[in-house]
Amino acid sequence: MRDADVKPGQMMTADLLVWYDAHARDLPWRSPPGSSVPPDPYRVWLSEVMLQQTTVAAVRGYFDRFTKRWPNIASLAAAEDGAVMAEWAGLGYYARARNLLSCARAVMARHGGNFPADLAALRALPGIGPYTAAAVAAIAFGRPETVVDGNVERVMARLFAVQTPQPAAKPELTALAASLTPAGRPGDYAQAVMDLGATICTPRNPACVLCPLTEVCRARQLGIQGDLPRKLAKATKPARTGTVWLARRADGALLLERRPGHGLLGGTLGFPGDGWDGASGAAPLSADWRHVGQVHHTFTHFHLTLAVKVAEVPQNAITSRGEFQGSNLFSPRGLPTLMRKAHDLAFGAITTR
Ligand code: ADE
Repeated sequence: MRDADVKPGQMMTADLLVWYDAHARDLPWRSPPGSSVPPDPYRVWLSEVMLQQTTVAAVRGYFDRFTKRWPNIASLAAAEDGAVMAEWAGLGYYARARNLLSCARAVMARHGGNFPADLAALRALPGIGPYTAAAVAAIAFGRPETVVDGNVERVMARLFAVQTPQPAAKPELTALAASLTPAGRPGDYAQAVMDLGATICTPRNPACVLCPLTEVCRARQLGIQGDLPRKLAKATKPARTGTVWLARRADGALLLERRPGHGLLGGTLGFPGDGWDGASGAAPLSADWRHVGQVHHTFTHFHLTLAVKVAEVPQNAITSRGEFQGSNLFSPRGLPTLMRKAHDLAFGAITTR
């Protein structure tokens, strides 16, 4: 093919793949660029679920621990719910962990333990939305599906100088990403755009001098790369307050309860609280509660400040909520971050992993 016959989009894709061949990040769920050995769909799926709303740096340790403990879909499907929730603790968005298990079990039940390659069959699995389905189909199975996350949206907004503010620009940015998706190496292409967005075409101060697409980037030509993608001003998050009660027996056992399966921190283990809606709930047992301070945590839709109350309670203390668990049965590492903060405030920080 002569250069004149090659469409600009194809040139962009080709340049991007050349860049990826040299600069791809070495990540434990990947096959090297251009490899003839496709990556393990289980590892691709697990990493993509973990990477939603979380950075590669944060995910690495979790991915290593998960894959050591549950090296394949069959072992994860057979895991105890509580063990998976505890291993997930700190990654946030606990519905993802619950769906992870449901999905592993559905792959065993419906597909004999093999992930399907087809987008529709992937979408039909629990917790697999358009992003994860496209990522698994493209990266693990070489299907020419288009993977669109925040990095990809930013790269497209800049390459094509899309001025529509987010989130309204999403369909346009998805169509642009699709227009660059190649029939060959779609998984490498998807990961190339993500790596470019994470390492060069960053939200602030993009390193345009290092970018393989700098010559063709419309935003760069217009000098507006730092202003894109445009965003509508964000509504400020509401603030909520509440109380959490940490009861400790003389033998060191702590009163813990598992939250209901659905909703905020659903299915996670934690200390009894009052609902965090400002309502003054009752303590789980009557004791000499001491106020030891406050912890703050920001969720997707609100800021939360919790008053932390602590009591030393008798060995035979009776409670209607949760149960006492000794340190041989429970580690604060298995708590979601909010509860971990309350624990550390009350009893001192534990070694972080
Ligand atoms: N972010 C989400 N998925 C990714 C992947 N496969 N490679 C790099 N960054 C990612």
